Amino acid sequence: MVDVAPLSGTVQVPGDKSISHRALMLAALCEGVVDVHGLGSGGDNGSTARILKQLGVRLEVVGDVTRVHGVGLGGLRAPAEPLDCGNSGTTMRLMLGIVAGQPFEATLIGDDSLSGRPMRRVLEPLSRMGLEILEIREGEYAPVRVRGRRPLTAMNYVSPVASAQVKSAVLLAGLWANGETAVTEPAPSRDHTERMLAYLGHPPQAKPLYVPGDLSSAAFILGAALLTPNSRVTVRDVGVNPTRTGVLDAFEAMGIGVTRSDERERCGEPRADLTVAHAPLKPFTISGTLAVRAIDELPLLATLASRAAGVSEIRDAQELRVKESDRIRKTVELLRSFGVRAEERPDGLRIHGDPSRPLRAGRIDAHGDHRIAMCAFLLAAIAPPGSVVTGAASIDSSFPSFHETLEALAR
Ligand code: S3P
Repeated sequence: MVDVAPLSGTVQVPGDKSISHRALMLAALCEGVVDVHGLGSGGDNGSTARILKQLGVRLEVVGDVTRVHGVGLGGLRAPAEPLDCGNSGTTMRLMLGIVAGQPFEATLIGDDSLSGRPMRRVLEPLSRMGLEILEIREGEYAPVRVRGRRPLTAMNYVSPVASAQVKSAVLLAGLWANGETAVTEPAPSRDHTERMLAYLGHPPQAKPLYVPGDLSSAAFILGAALLTPNSRVTVRDVGVNPTRTGVLDAFEAMGIGVTRSDERERCGEPRADLTVAHAPLKPFTISGTLAVRAIDELPLLATLASRAAGVSEIRDAQELRVKESDRIRKTVELLRSFGVRAEERPDGLRIHGDPSRPLRAGRIDAHGDHRIAMCAFLLAAIAPPGSVVTGAASIDSSFPSFHETLEALAR
């Protein structure tokens, strides 16, 4: 094992990316001024903010607060230019739900990664509600040109996929529907949209919104401590919505006690300070609803599994194949590049962990996938010198302060 400085101390991470998208969008649909506190600082949330401005919403940054001048359900304006969602799947899918209810046309575009991700899953229910699809590449991919309509036809949608983006797109469109819209899903995906709609009411009323720290970012900091002997770290003020805390359950299954302190709730979202300390890691199996509740943290958990004593398995996670990259393939490639034995399965992967087996310096192109890049840096920190990680600028899409946060804990 390479001698690595332990991590210790208390840090904060940027605001939750999922909640920040919803905060911006729903604030824009309120009648009046909404102060959003603790908004995520990543590029994906920036894409949502930029698009709302193109739709005629005024946003101001006042210290730590983003002040959104909501235009109400009837106030969005037709955009003059295509709406560029960048790398952000949540922006594109949720904005399609919003555009569905507008009496105008819009074109949504994204970067190479986003232009390879499936959009039918939202367009299918939205077109049943009344959204007109004018152009779409190969019937599935952005750029997509659509025309909304008002009112939409309310629907009771039975979704074949446990996806918060699909659920949220339909629920947002439901704001302009002629009756009650409901979604049933095969397993409970994150419920931030439902919680925020319940908090703001219908039609949404202008009230301050408070975004907790992003558990998906905090997980990388906690994970770094679990890879580094003698570490103990606390991440303050993190969202602990139960639809997101699969990663903490997985830590417990690995034999790691996660201490929650100062538990509280704001705007319907629970938050807490989280502390972990380094300890020997046990292997785990993740499947079923736990895979949904830890979906964005599965590459990280696979990374940690490489240092657990035994074989870990991730199943029922085929959704990983349509994230910012094919995260099953990419995680296996990442682990192998650092000398870890891993096998790809159609719906997940198997990792042969052995803490006594030295890693080797890895060489990986994260290919614009922020979470693969962060996993690579965690392994590089405990591998012999010489690892090369490319395609890592995407870290800025969710966690621009990733490196400096780790540096602060290593001091
Ligand atoms: C998100 C939902 C999840 C998640 C993504 C963010 C959201 O995607 O992986 O990072 O904010 O709704 P799916 O809804 O496609 O599962």
